[in-house]
Amino acid sequence: MALQSSHLKRPIIVAVDGPAGSGKSSICAQVCRDLDWSYVNTGALYRVLALVLAERKVSHENSAELRSVLIEFSSKVKWQHKTGKIFIGEVDYTPLLGSVEAASGASKVAKIPQIREALLPIQRDLSLSAPIGVIVDGRDIGTVVFPDADVKIFMTASIEQRARRRLAQLISDGASSVTLSLADIMKTIGDRDLQDSQRETAPMTMASDSVMFDTSNMDIQESIVALKTLLKTRGLCP
Ligand code: C5P
Repeated sequence: MALQSSHLKRPIIVAVDGPAGSGKSSICAQVCRDLDWSYVNTGALYRVLALVLAERKVSHENSAELRSVLIEFSSKVKWQHKTGKIFIGEVDYTPLLGSVEAASGASKVAKIPQIREALLPIQRDLSLSAPIGVIVDGRDIGTVVFPDADVKIFMTASIEQRARRRLAQLISDGASSVTLSLADIMKTIGDRDLQDSQRETAPMTMASDSVMFDTSNMDIQESIVALKTLLKTRGLCP
């Protein structure tokens, strides 16, 4: 008998990795809305976990305490596929995801093997519960989380372009007191890239079977069209 039992069926999985500011989350979220697919932004899990650990004042090195927070986190984290909102129990952490504390905390917690291990089944379960297809974005999706993804994409852009986008976002978010220069932002982004690509566990790398997707010279709409065209060419969507 062919291996067609329903429990072995899984959604179409598109793994998207790449550095911060490449446009991953905006592009993937819109493509998922257009296709009626689910979007799982794994960076949000690292961000929320960093905030929870900071709130509880749990040291990343304290394994017993860390272990108990991780168990609680696994049982309480909820992801709304439709809205992209992330809850711990009844508390909506979505509004806090863009804070500097969440971003810098995420890169720090992401270096801890115990944490990456605990987040692995959560990322897989959330993604596999998607009804049709799912785009999962992060740093190690094609290499560690879903090495058998239907297509793997490495989304990137020049560091200068990524810094320009970040600056424009800060200004449009109403941060009237933006005192950061383009050079400051390029330095922060460069440091984060280095931290992500040089850590020992699951460093950000392009999987050998990934497609390079460079958004340096595309605006968001062009990138959305290009990603949908790529998925169509692979026969993954109509
Ligand atoms: O994608 P985002 O910028 O929200 O990710 C925040 C941080 O979380 C990254 O800089 C990276 O250190 C970490 N991360 C990771 N692996 C993932 C997703 C995020 O290490 N799959």
